[in-house]
Amino acid sequence: MSRTVIAIDGPAGSGKSTVAKAVAKALSWHYLDTGSMYRAVTVAAQRRNLNLNDEEVMGDFAESVTIELGNSVLVNGEDVTEELRTEQTNRDVSIVATMARVRHAMVHQQRLFATTAATGIVVEGRDITTVVFPDARVKIYLTASLEERSRRRGGDEGEDSVARRDHADMSREVSPLTQASDAHTIDTTDRSIADVVEEILTCLANSSN
Ligand code: CDP
Repeated sequence: MSRTVIAIDGPAGSGKSTVAKAVAKALSWHYLDTGSMYRAVTVAAQRRNLNLNDEEVMGDFAESVTIELGNSVLVNGEDVTEELRTEQTNRDVSIVATMARVRHAMVHQQRLFATTAATGIVVEGRDITTVVFPDARVKIYLTASLEERSRRRGGDEGEDSVARRDHADMSREVSPLTQASDAHTIDTTDRSIADVVEEILTCLANSSN
């Protein structure tokens, strides 16, 4: 049986992770960070010296792995947490995330997670409201100014890198980041986390199915 889903999309630094985790906590639901899955496949492939530009190699690889997300991120049991957010991974994940077979394999694991979860789930990413769970009970698009989103990265990732990933995510052919017409958009630039969480919980309370 499919569990109730709150789907959240948005660009880097829009507040997705913080807000999605807080919403999940408030509801005692599961939280699924799909970005970590694309990052995990990327790191595991880097470690194996796979050609990250080769769609066939990366497709085969993504189809062969199982990803576990917790305090550590595991790819077939191998802990890849340490390199998940390096500059190299920020660059490489944009390439890997364009590949149809990689995406297909990740989406399959994401949907499986929803069917096997014991509670509702809060899922965040780039294609969750549009492709992975278009029938989600609540669909949210989070955004914020580029300056603010880069600031939130705490100097980890400059405006240039964030803008480059925005462009890659929004312009790729397969499952680009777009605002679903039926998603509820929240600009988080001048809003507190608690305030945004409250707005999403209100959306859930007002949702009908
Ligand atoms: O944390 P941040 O928002 O910077 O990135 P992330 O959520 O960890 O995602 C890293 C990258 O994975 C994004 O820049 C996308 O290229 C890709 N991604 C995707 O294509 N589809 C998703 N559902 C989630 C992430």
